[in-house]
Amino acid sequence: MKALGFDAAFDYHDGPVRDQLRAAAPDGIDVYFDNVGGEHLEAAIGAMRLHGRAAVCGMIAQYNATEPPAAPRNLALLIGKRLTLRGFLVGDHGHLRDEFVREVAGWLRDGRLAYDETVVDGIENAPAAFLGLLRGENLGKMLVRL
Ligand SMILES: NC(=O)c1ccc[n+]([C@@H]2O[C@H](COP(=O)([O-])OP(=O)(O)OC[C@H]3O[C@@H](n4cnc5c(N)ncnc54)[C@H](OP(=O)(O)O)[C@@H]3O)[C@@H](O)[C@H]2O)c1
Repeated sequence: MKALGFDAAFDYHDGPVRDQLRAAAPDGIDVYFDNVGGEHLEAAIGAMRLHGRAAVCGMIAQYNATEPPAAPRNLALLIGKRLTLRGFLVGDHGHLRDEFVREVAGWLRDGRLAYDETVVDGIENAPAAFLGLLRGENLGKMLVRL
């Protein structure tokens, strides 16, 4: 976690997201980038402070659901807290790509932004790498080097 520059992080496999988020951010949150939906979005709505905002990018928690899940059960909190939830599609922002590459390349160069990759050598190890990906054995993108 320190290597990636985060102030706090938790694993959703370790317990309820709501409780872990409260421990990591006891004063609440102002901004949330949602890649998950479900329990994570509900926890974020619960933790948001007045005028909090969320960019809703993905809902991976429900892609395999056979029935549409109920909405976050605490949506009514949007009213009192005056929250904003807005859909985010990367394709809408193509015109910012050059600026993004310039800016982020600088952050990577000077160490302000860190990332990691998990590299497995050899096409013969691709099935094991794929299974490892599904088991969460990778940090960052799982790559197979040919
Ligand atoms: N809006 C857009 O323009 C746009 C574009 C591309 C992608 N997306 C969305 O962005 C999200 C991330 O994409 P990605 O390419 O980064 O995916 P990825 O590399 O496949 O990573 C998926 C992550 O989600 C976690 N995950 C899977 N099921 C989960 C669940 N039920 N609850 C909580 N976490 C879960 C996985 O962790 P574990 O393995 O530990 O479960 C993994 O860390 C997806 O929702 C995708 O649909 C949106």
